Amino acid sequence: MQPFVFNNPTKIVFGADMVAKVGKYAAPYGKKGLLVYGKQSIKNNGVYAKVTTALADSGVNWVEHGGVKSNPVLSHVYAGVELAKEQQVDMVIAVGGGSVLDEAKAIAAGALYSGDVWDFFCDKAWVKQALPLITVLTLAATGSEMNDGGVVTNEQTQQKFNIGSPNLFPKVSILDPTLTYTVPLDYTAYSAVDAISHLLEGYFTSADTATPLQDRFVEGLVQTIIESTDQIFAQPDHPDARATMMWAATWALNGLSTAGIGAYAFPNHMIEHSLSALYDVAHGAGLSIVMPAWMSYASERHPAKFAQFAQRVFGCSAANEQQLVEAGIAALKEWFIKIKSPVALSQVDVVPEDIPAIAANATMLAQKWGLKEYPAPVIEDILQCCR
Ligand code: NZQ
Ligand code: ZN
Repeated sequence: MQPFVFNNPTKIVFGADMVAKVGKYAAPYGKKGLLVYGKQSIKNNGVYAKVTTALADSGVNWVEHGGVKSNPVLSHVYAGVELAKEQQVDMVIAVGGGSVLDEAKAIAAGALYSGDVWDFFCDKAWVKQALPLITVLTLAATGSEMNDGGVVTNEQTQQKFNIGSPNLFPKVSILDPTLTYTVPLDYTAYSAVDAISHLLEGYFTSADTATPLQDRFVEGLVQTIIESTDQIFAQPDHPDARATMMWAATWALNGLSTAGIGAYAFPNHMIEHSLSALYDVAHGAGLSIVMPAWMSYASERHPAKFAQFAQRVFGCSAANEQQLVEAGIAALKEWFIKIKSPVALSQVDVVPEDIPAIAANATMLAQKWGLKEYPAPVIEDILQCCR
């Protein structure tokens, strides 16, 4: 195991109907919040009414910044920063999925910065301070509710880049699983893929082989996500399955599963972010296309961990290591197909002629993340296997 510092300061308030507590937990941070939310869902399913009632009951006022789109964009972040500055809000209150939370993080940082908020995404400036962030999660997927990162697309440059700072951990996140009952089955599937990918990026890219605790933690979480997703497909308002999925997705990217594994990378995310930047593909849908191909590519270099995955997660057995590796990748892909998450570029209308441009876009992130082993030709080869 490698040395590490684990410090996750986000307070989690978890349970059915905990949305009613958002006012109580927001009030200590001031009198006025910027209420950030998405397009339609929270007004259609009653969450908006629950949140605003709770805020009013606790004496918290708000100004609204709705309309965040899935795969949030920089122009909308700019509008939020301007509003937060003009209205001199004390905090940001985000109500939605990962896109809303990520845009809220960018606004929280930009509101206390005199320069261009995009500087943070290009590593031209560090987030030294940010407005306090309170979140009410309505879609369990990204882990943004308990981590220090956020992702935004710059529409001008077609870069889907990330921001990160210890100052961006939410102060409090309300995790009320009942708010996720209305998440449609397509996004339920994408969220499961995303959470699984967060776990597997570290699991497969760490070079440390002496991480039995982290390995079993990841394997157990992946099995749990698969099991609860299958239950949700059978019954979308399944209380235990939605609750389990919500907490599992949070654990999948809150730093716990990677503590002690040393250096690791996000190559699947590096490629997927170009799909969502260029084609506005849902993040989890892009990942289910990329992951099986990347796993085949990476398993040629480090087969042992892929064989372990096949045995422990899917109970595969085979005559030799290579067959075991292939059986594990096939089992995961089959499950993606079962939950109707796409597994080929053609399913999201991306044609083979586009592959060089996608690879070129992904190299921008490879450079930002220092992934020297992924020049454009390697990324192209992986994408060729996603057709
Ligand atoms: O916009 P509305 O109308 O609210 O609809 C949303 C949206 O269309 C809908 N939705 C959310 N909660 C709902 C609901 N519909 C019905 N009932 C509810 N309770 O779901 C759609 C998708 O929402 P979105 O927030 O985009 O999904 P997700 O949580 O998957 O977030 C995806 C974004 O997060 C980024 C992704 O790249 C993508 O931009 N990520 C953020 C990470 C992080 N901060 O750590 C890590 C991830 O790897 C990821 O990159
Ligand atoms: Zn992700």
